[in-house]
Parts: sequence; structure tokens; C-alpha cells
Amino acid sequence: MMVKAIEWLGDRVRILDQSRLPQEEVYLELDDYHSLASAIVELKIRGAPAIGVAGGYAVALGALKIEARSREEFQERWKDVTSTIAATRPTARNLFWAIGRMQKVAAAGKDVARTKKALVEEAIKIHSEEAVATEKLSQLGAELIRDNFTILTHCNTGALATGGYGTALGVIIRAKEQGKRVKVLATETRPLLQGARLTAWELKRANIPFTLITDSMAGYFMSREKVSCVIVGADRVAANGDTANKIGTYTLAVLAKENGIPFYVAAPTTTIDPSLASGDEIPIEERNPEEVTHIQGVSLAPEGTLARNPAFDITPHRYITAIITENGIIREPYGEGLRG
Ligand code: MRU
Repeated sequence: MMVKAIEWLGDRVRILDQSRLPQEEVYLELDDYHSLASAIVELKIRGAPAIGVAGGYAVALGALKIEARSREEFQERWKDVTSTIAATRPTARNLFWAIGRMQKVAAAGKDVARTKKALVEEAIKIHSEEAVATEKLSQLGAELIRDNFTILTHCNTGALATGGYGTALGVIIRAKEQGKRVKVLATETRPLLQGARLTAWELKRANIPFTLITDSMAGYFMSREKVSCVIVGADRVAANGDTANKIGTYTLAVLAKENGIPFYVAAPTTTIDPSLASGDEIPIEERNPEEVTHIQGVSLAPEGTLARNPAFDITPHRYITAIITENGIIREPYGEGLRG
């Protein structure tokens, strides 16, 4: 049974609080957009496609609470809602794509009541389309996986990160469902341990054999033991194929190339940003350095230690063997393929 990371309950949203996994499985019901926006910032709901879905629902929640007598008044108040949600996480393309879709619906609204209804319907549609897209790309990506593969993956890219089937982890789970024997090397993914906490939790639920490694062990395993391929997700893919994903992805891609290992990126087309020519233009979220100096509230470094915490890095397209989307598997030249 796929876990439901996020669910619309008619007038509120239910999310599985990912910041408390795997110790506790706690669901939160949120009925105002400020608390859903905070949940996105605090990584209670995370992963680019799930951030997009949550962003759509947050906009809908915000719209439902607006008390306006006219369409104009509604539009004015609505701007605060969308700007608050857009300010949560800058890198995930899916968030801005979802807000853009909601904005089109709001602009076409005839009156306040009908606009609110249409916005709720659009948010639900975004969610269900994203679920279909991630299942489809998982199916396509599974063609790249052969029996007895050992797959290295980074961060968390399953149902938790998508609100649907998953991207990189979706590919792995679908390959297993097809009867292929797969093993996973899951990186712990410092600083917030999405791999150790969330990917391990999802792989265990899916009954897929896996071994947890620290991020810094990847080179050791790629050069000395069997790694058939690396699959990761994406937060934003530029028009030339350069890809932003969880910090450490670039290192894995370079190591994969050095060791002759295919490096795949799996992402729905909603993660592709055709407006950015290259990865240099992708905004990178820099998070609180305490996430580096502390683990779950416990300080690791001497007080006052300076730390940096970019949440994502850019993998140049030359390191990427293929990008797996719901519309097909794209290879170099990426510019052409992604436009298609
Ligand atoms: O900071 P996070 O946990 O939101 O980062 C998530 C990732 O980097 C994922 O790899 C990416 O969003 C793809 S998820 C299907």
C-alpha cells in the first residue's frame, strides 16, 4: 500500500509529518495556508513534486478563507496567499508551476464563490495528474533496470516525496514489482538524513533489500563493489538538462562517470523549467546552518562554529546518462529532447 503523504479532506489537508519519521507516524490536519506553508519550510512535506501538490492545496486553502465582496477584492487578497507560498522553497520548480496553474484559474474566475470552487478542483487535479505522471515515469524507467541490479540512490524520492508513486524510488519499486531482483544502496543524505530516515522507511515497507551508506562512502562502493546504476530525482531541470537535486548529487554524478556507471535522473515534466537556459540560473535554497551543526537538536560542533547549508547542487547535463519523464526517456542532446 502506497503511503499517502498528502490528502485533501474537503476543507483541509492531511499530511504525514515527514520530520518525525521513522520514529513516529504522525498525521497533521491543516486548514489554513500559513500552517501548510510552514510545513513546507519545515520539511514536514517535501520533495519537489509533493511540494508542488502541497503548494496547490495551500493556495486553495488560502482562497477558501478570503472574505471578499467583489472579484477585485478577492484578487487583491489572493496575491498575499500566492506570495507567501512562493516564498517557502525556491528550488523546487513544481511549486512555481503549481502556483502558475492556480493563478490562471483565479484570473479566469467569474465570481468569488465560483473561483474558490474552481481553485479547489484545480489543486485536486494537480495532485491526481502528478500521481499519474510519477507512476508512468516509474514504469518507463523500470525498463532501464535489469535483474540483479544494485542501484545507488540519494535523498528520498518515493511516495513521500511526490504524493504519488515516486520518481527514482518509484522506478526501483516498479522494477521490483516486475519481478526483477534489485538491491539498493541508499545514501543517508546529510544534513537532514532523508535517505536514512525516509528512503530506508519506504524501502523497508516495499520489502526491497537495501544497505544504508554515508554519503562519503559512495566512491568506495562505486569503485570497489557492484553498482549497476545511480538513480536520483530532481528539483529543477534547466532547458539544457542541467539538474538541481539534493546536495551531494553532483558528487555522485562525477563519481559515476569516473567509474563508468550510468547516472539517471527521474522527474515528472513539471520539474522541467524551460525558462532557464542552464543550471547556473537555478535558484539554490540555503537553509539554516544549524541543520549542519546539529542533528535532531543535538549539537555536533563547538558552539559558534560557522557552517554553510546549500540544500541542492547542480549536476551538469554531461554527467547525466538519461532523464526519465512520464513522456519518455531523454538522452543527449537534452535541449532538443526536453523541448519535445
Ligand atoms: O529538501 P528535500 O527533501 O525536499 O529534497 C528532495 C530532493 O532533493 C529530491 O531528490 C527531489 O525533490 C526529487 S523528489 C521526487
